[in-house]
Amino acid sequence: MDNFYELASKRQSCRNYSDRPVEKEKLMQCIKSAAIAPSACNGQPWHYTLITESETVAKLVRHLQSAGANRFTSKTPAFAVITEKPTNAMASMGERLKDQDFSSMDIGISVAHFVLQAEALGLSTCIIGWFNENGIKELLNIKKSDRIRLVIAVGYKDDSDKLRPKKRKSLEDILTVIE
Ligand SMILES: Cc1cc2nc3c(=O)[nH]c(=O)nc-3n(C[C@H](O)[C@H](O)[C@H](O)COP(=O)(O)O)c2cc1C
Repeated sequence: MDNFYELASKRQSCRNYSDRPVEKEKLMQCIKSAAIAPSACNGQPWHYTLITESETVAKLVRHLQSAGANRFTSKTPAFAVITEKPTNAMASMGERLKDQDFSSMDIGISVAHFVLQAEALGLSTCIIGWFNENGIKELLNIKKSDRIRLVIAVGYKDDSDKLRPKKRKSLEDILTVIE
């Protein structure tokens, strides 16, 4: 696909997966694309944990579902869990001096690379921010002091899953042009 807008428009949060397992090579390509994302002072404050083994997937899913949210994950074959790692000294100094949270921004950009790469490979994804952080840390032996920022559900969509019209603010609402 050579048209970026077309790719970005095709990506949508998938909450209806087929049973088809995800190829390891495709997941690794998503990680490679996530890894080349830009970040403040090139700090790269992300760590990805890929989970495809079915028993661990089933245990992870328990920590993604609560209050009726994320029920669809029961049929998701693979996940990436993204942990924030300390950024470098320059980026943390910049964060402090400018009162910004560059690490979360960096992780968001990296996750965008991941999900768009997945889309380009014919996979579907859903970014998940609603989860039991401590439960996942315990399951995956992630240090208590680390923060899990996001989880990505990955799989092949079910045939019944159709492209939805995008509900977005108008460009007038989000854009100011100073000419
Ligand atoms: C940071 C973040 C957290 C999200 N958390 C969840 C979630 O926990 N469960 C879910 O079903 N969707 C989640 N989403 C997906 C959004 O609901 C979705 O991106 C948004 O409604 C736009 O729809 P689209 O992705 O289909 O274009 C999350 C998205 C982002 C970026």
